[in-house]
Amino acid sequence: MSKIRAAITAVGGFVPERVLSNKDIEKMVETSDAWIKSRTGISERRLLEPGQPTSFMAIRAAQDMLKNHNVSPEDIELIIFSTVTPDMLFPSTACIVQDAIGATNAWGYDLIAACSGFVFALTTGVQFIESGKHKKVLVIGADKMSSITDYSDRNNCILFGDGAACVLLEPSQDENGVMDSILHIDGKGGKYLYMLGGGSLNPPTHETVDKKMHYIFQDGQPVFKAATKGMADVSAEIMEKNGLTADDIKYLVPHQANMRIITATASRMGVGMEKVMVNIHKYGNTTTATIPLCLYEYCKEGKIQKGDNLIISSFGAGYTWGAIWVKWSI
Ligand SMILES: CC(C)(COP(=O)(O)OP(=O)(O)OC[C@H]1O[C@@H](n2cnc3c(N)ncnc32)[C@H](O)[C@@H]1OP(=O)(O)O)[C@@H](O)C(=O)NCCC(=O)NCCS
Repeated sequence: MSKIRAAITAVGGFVPERVLSNKDIEKMVETSDAWIKSRTGISERRLLEPGQPTSFMAIRAAQDMLKNHNVSPEDIELIIFSTVTPDMLFPSTACIVQDAIGATNAWGYDLIAACSGFVFALTTGVQFIESGKHKKVLVIGADKMSSITDYSDRNNCILFGDGAACVLLEPSQDENGVMDSILHIDGKGGKYLYMLGGGSLNPPTHETVDKKMHYIFQDGQPVFKAATKGMADVSAEIMEKNGLTADDIKYLVPHQANMRIITATASRMGVGMEKVMVNIHKYGNTTTATIPLCLYEYCKEGKIQKGDNLIISSFGAGYTWGAIWVKWSI
């Protein structure tokens, strides 16, 4: 029996309307539009309104996918929901989305791998298609980073934004699809990027709130160094493993944490910046949503065609990192 390959057959996305520009942030902390642009590549980001949870965006992204690709929600068999900002610790946000979109025959769960969440979730979803267990798997990446960002901390508040996007996986009908993946974790990196409060280690108390333990903590420089090396290494590794050269690649689809990390990864792969998907300038770091939002927008704009080789690459808290080779199927 020939091997079943998984293919991305549909995409959807959603970003909130409210824009937080660098000029707006200049009024909140001591920083400047010029510093933020030159050190990160970010000009603005989108923020969800208070009271609207992560699922608000994810439901809209999924509905966008269902409508534009003519997919019936009852046909979805599994929902894998990647996020570090679930609506609540439980029930899972996968359950909330399943109910809202009418995916009455699906099971599902949440998955945490921070900025590598979508790469880990996509690879996980692929296994359910390749094994023959399921025929339609919805993989969602969504984060409301504004809900865990301290807007008085200039080291972090400049970086993050809110967004959601999703892909549908189905058995491939041709030679295209998700070809290979390489994933890594290293818990030694945990001390540089984390949120201390709210879990079983530090359940919420007045003290955890006073000490700002429910916000992202990041020691930027070690994370920057590890991300630059990790993303570049794993991207080069997946190309070498599969005998791919820069000429074979239509697009690098990197996680959008910092434009300088993206440039370093592209340079290591030998691809020019015209072959790199970028949305950091307008959305900032939307954590698990950066990569599917890139896929969604470039697909919608007709910039990717069936058969194009994409290298998806990520690095995030944990540390978590990885790369996926995709031959585009839409
Ligand atoms: C956060 C980050 C943008 C900071 O950029 P950087 O070039 O490393 O800046 P540094 O931390 O070295 O700080 C340089 C100076 O700028 C200052 N600075 C920091 N944030 C600033 C801001 N928003 N505006 C102006 N100055 C700022 C620092 O205080 C420091 O001043 P000092 O030299 O007087 O101490 C960068 O480290 C980064 O992108 N890290 C990785 C982020 C990431 O990828 N996170 C997600 C997981 S992948």
